[in-house]
Amino acid sequence: MKSISSKKLKGNILIPGDKSISHRLVILSSIAIGKSNIKGILKSDDIMKTIDAMKNFGASIEFSNPYNCLIKGVGLGGLAEPKSALDFGNSGTAVRLIMGLSASHPITTLFVGDASLSMRPMDRVLKSLVNFGSSYSLRKENYLPAILKGSDNPIPFSFELEEPSAQIKSAVLLGALNTPGVTKVKDKFNTRDHTERLLELYGANINTVKKRSVREITIKGINELKGIDVSVPGDPSSALFPIIAALICKNSDITVKNVLINPTRDGAYRVLKDMGADISFLNHRIMAAEEVYDIRVRSSNLKGINIPRKLSPTMIDDYPILAVAASMAKGKTYFKGVNELRFKESDRFSGILNLLEKSGVRADSKKDDIIIYGKSELKKGDIEIETNLDHRMAMSALVMGLVSKKEVKIDNDETIKTSFPSFYKVMLKIGAKLSKK
Ligand code: S3P
Repeated sequence: MKSISSKKLKGNILIPGDKSISHRLVILSSIAIGKSNIKGILKSDDIMKTIDAMKNFGASIEFSNPYNCLIKGVGLGGLAEPKSALDFGNSGTAVRLIMGLSASHPITTLFVGDASLSMRPMDRVLKSLVNFGSSYSLRKENYLPAILKGSDNPIPFSFELEEPSAQIKSAVLLGALNTPGVTKVKDKFNTRDHTERLLELYGANINTVKKRSVREITIKGINELKGIDVSVPGDPSSALFPIIAALICKNSDITVKNVLINPTRDGAYRVLKDMGADISFLNHRIMAAEEVYDIRVRSSNLKGINIPRKLSPTMIDDYPILAVAASMAKGKTYFKGVNELRFKESDRFSGILNLLEKSGVRADSKKDDIIIYGKSELKKGDIEIETNLDHRMAMSALVMGLVSKKEVKIDNDETIKTSFPSFYKVMLKIGAKLSKK
């Protein structure tokens, strides 16, 4: 795919269901008693990996139409041992959450992934799961393939999150479901809380209290979950691609319908407002225990700002596209404390610097910080970006092309299907100059 300078993005669009919530709904429905009906699920490559894995554990999962998924769960403790390796493709969330779930079942599972996932750290999750009584081995002690032998007599424990990772937290919470007694997780980073919200919907025995700025989550295990009927809100990270495109392309005015806005995920929206973005949140409602809005965005003159480290867990997936916004803002933008970017689908810390440098935007890095010197003017273009199998780097590069004099090409657009299969269609609908070849 390639893109070039665009004007006047206009129209109303719908973006696909939230990726984090879709993974969790598939997993929880697959271990609940009875049927769940999930409307508006994200049908992307990543979610299909979770669906395949849960089918291998014995759940029945069918689509009644492309966005409506019917799941009959196996009931708590009912996971069957998979007959072959589970392939998680590009999805870190799928592999880590399902490691957590299987750690408290008396089964042995082999986990594999694509080239990008096989370079991402897994020890950070598996070492916490040992507390349940599970054991594991990893290639070079940190990478897939992994073999996990779940515990036949899981033990509850108290756990304090050491990295700002909702995946690690969620892995422990999912393991706790089939563990007798009370498992406790302390989260001082305020990571995304979809697992906790959804567990309540399914009737889990879960409780969260906030002590100073630390969230303490307790789960009492061996309490059956019950199937639910639910609609999935739109993904706020996917929504940011058309939203930031509209902010930086002149004379634009778009509305993105049905977007999830959660205080543990909305950092990028708060930051854009502080940068001077004209964004309004309309028609508030609740879906899947989450707040949802239609978001209207008009072109804006952005200014650079300082984004503190403490905001990073609330916007960790959104730095690549925010870097594009910052490159068009007047003045310096600081991304503080963004080391976790190195452990995503690719090393996004380096990927962001590379995209900016190739586009002719000055940027520096100091330890865990990135500094972007923005200018409200078209970038040079005539570049090709290596995306390193990273969907968000691919879409960010294409949005950079919309404010570039000459074309921006990417080396691989296949990965966009992992999170935002309708990206091309949605961007064309609002008038972006994007082409397949
Ligand atoms: C996710 C958590 C984040 C995020 C990922 C989805 C989740 O990862 O980057 O895209 O659904 O829990 P970490 O928890 O590793 O930060």
